[in-house]
Amino acid sequence: MSELKVAVFASGSGSNFQAMLDAALPCRIELLVCDKPGAKVVERAKKKDVPVWEFSPQAFPSKEAYEQAIVEQLQERKVEWIFLAGYMRLVGPVLLGAYANRMINIHPSLLPKFPGLDAIGQAFRAGERETGVTVHYIDEGMDTGPIIAQESVDIYPNDTMETLETRIHQVEHMLYPQVIRKLIK
Ligand code: GAR
Repeated sequence: MSELKVAVFASGSGSNFQAMLDAALPCRIELLVCDKPGAKVVERAKKKDVPVWEFSPQAFPSKEAYEQAIVEQLQERKVEWIFLAGYMRLVGPVLLGAYANRMINIHPSLLPKFPGLDAIGQAFRAGERETGVTVHYIDEGMDTGPIIAQESVDIYPNDTMETLETRIHQVEHMLYPQVIRKLIK
């Protein structure tokens, strides 16, 4: 049987993408889609010979147009699953229509608490004693789709944003590959 083909979408540093590469998942990362040309995640992909499709949303007349271009890339490469890993953009109807129930995301909070940008900072500034990580299916909302897995992370009185961020990322890097492994088996 041929290997399952997947794509990862990311906008930034790509430490979660790196964790997937390092986890040697039983699938082939056929494409990295990046909406921020030059982001660090692109370097990580190139080092491992993962093909990259970089695009500037501003270069397209609409969200529908760039999502259509993405879908064409994915279908040409027979991609079956999409894993969002720090893709800081709402997914629209074109992508959702093509990959309904085959698109998941990781988010650094215990959703439904603290959706959106800077979720770690939101929890930290709110004085929470616990936050965490959520993996969920994508729908049209901001970090709102059905939850697949969650893991909590304590916030200690002596935590700084940096120490908390580090622990959250450690959990992300374990949890995401674990969830993906179960989903695609
Ligand atoms: C991760 O913490 C991920 O959970 C978050 O962006 C970071 C990307 O880091 N995603 C969201 O906030 C989605 N709403 P990375 O580029 O090092 O993987």
